[in-house]
Amino acid sequence: MDKFIITGGTKLCGEIEVDSAKNAYLPILAGTILCEDEIILNSCPDFKDIENMCLILKELGIDVKKDKQTLYINAKNADKTVIPTFLAKELRSSFFALGALLSRFKKAKVAYPGGCDIGLRPIDLHIKGLKDLGVKIVESHGYITCDASNMKGGVVHLDYPSVGATENLMMSAVLAKGTTTIVNTAKEPEIVDLQNFLNSMGAKIHGAGTSIITIEGVERLHKTIYTPIPDRIIAGTYLIACAMTGGKILVKNCIPQHFSSLSNKLQKSGCKIKTFSDKIYIESSGRLKTMGFIETRPYPGFPTDLQAQTLTLQTISKGNCIIQENLFETRFKFVPELIKMGANIKVSGQTAYISGVKNLLGAEVYATDLRGGVALVLAGLHAQGYTTIHNIFHIDRGYVNLEEKLSRLGAKIIRESENN
Ligand code: UD1
Repeated sequence: MDKFIITGGTKLCGEIEVDSAKNAYLPILAGTILCEDEIILNSCPDFKDIENMCLILKELGIDVKKDKQTLYINAKNADKTVIPTFLAKELRSSFFALGALLSRFKKAKVAYPGGCDIGLRPIDLHIKGLKDLGVKIVESHGYITCDASNMKGGVVHLDYPSVGATENLMMSAVLAKGTTTIVNTAKEPEIVDLQNFLNSMGAKIHGAGTSIITIEGVERLHKTIYTPIPDRIIAGTYLIACAMTGGKILVKNCIPQHFSSLSNKLQKSGCKIKTFSDKIYIESSGRLKTMGFIETRPYPGFPTDLQAQTLTLQTISKGNCIIQENLFETRFKFVPELIKMGANIKVSGQTAYISGVKNLLGAEVYATDLRGGVALVLAGLHAQGYTTIHNIFHIDRGYVNLEEKLSRLGAKIIRESENN
């Protein structure tokens, strides 16, 4: 196990590139199950979650090879339809494989998924949607066993625009008989990317990015070469890192439109922002105005995955701020760690009340989950003195070599083994 040691107070300056989006890559990897020809995926980052998803594909009999940042995947000889608990517990996206397995093999047995501990994270919408399409489902002994031999296109109405349920149902309908319409779908950019990837293999999907998606079933898919979109949450995290340290950086290889809900707020708080088609420049003068009120919402609303980082910025901004977390029940678990660093925060249920202080102070803190963990890195970059962050395996799930990347911008951050 590793830890980060950060000496705070350095302004970040320079250029930084954003990796491909973990949350686009993971459903796309599940989508490779659908195709019997070779698929080439470019710009594959070394996220732990992607490594785990590749292990799941291998378990299903799929050939997965990585050469530098390119993945070569061939599911021609896939012959298993069971995802065991020891693999499923590592990441929530293991559950995406369900839709793809049902589409191709008409049966699947999948263990309940794991992932970040940020709330209840039920799967009822996935299950209800599949049942609406004629899939027979039995839940017992920690497994969901599905028979899709009578599955055919139909209309599914999601009670909530769940990202995962939208993606799972899209994949389940790709090779199914007839046309499927999913209503009240999530509109996240990663869903548009999944549609583009599946269509590049010959799927017939329309409407991703709106609240109605239509999938016309096809007989088979063909080979493709695809590059998933850049990670909007990583790009947003870099912007906040700069905002908190009072520096100036150019964030390259990103789609600024995907995180304009954050950049607009940063601009209103006093940052200078210049947006280009594939990069964004930010300059921060130091202590900013607070954002006042923020509530997390499905896209294009403010992303829950940037809530922890934004809350951390509010702890050193001028004035008071209220943050309402509407998606996940326990996404304020990192707050006690920030309080150890001198932040003034009170949490009541799903709402955090933050009173900005002038400075945070370095402390010994523990990452509790992926985004809450990276929020502590941001706090450490700003804080006076040393910050040690333990349990950084959480952060490694969604940020590759974060210490090297931030060091290139001038940050003083090192990774050390816990044994040192
Ligand atoms: C995805 C992202 C995650 C992000 C989240 C919201 C991936 C791999 N993960 O997670 O990083 O934080 O979108 O943008 O893409 N819900 C139900 N029943 C269900 C499914 C979801 O009630 O069957 C609820 C959840 O508890 C939550 C809300 O719907 O309150 C949103 O969840 P969802 O959009 O499904 O998130 P994930 O796909 O798990």
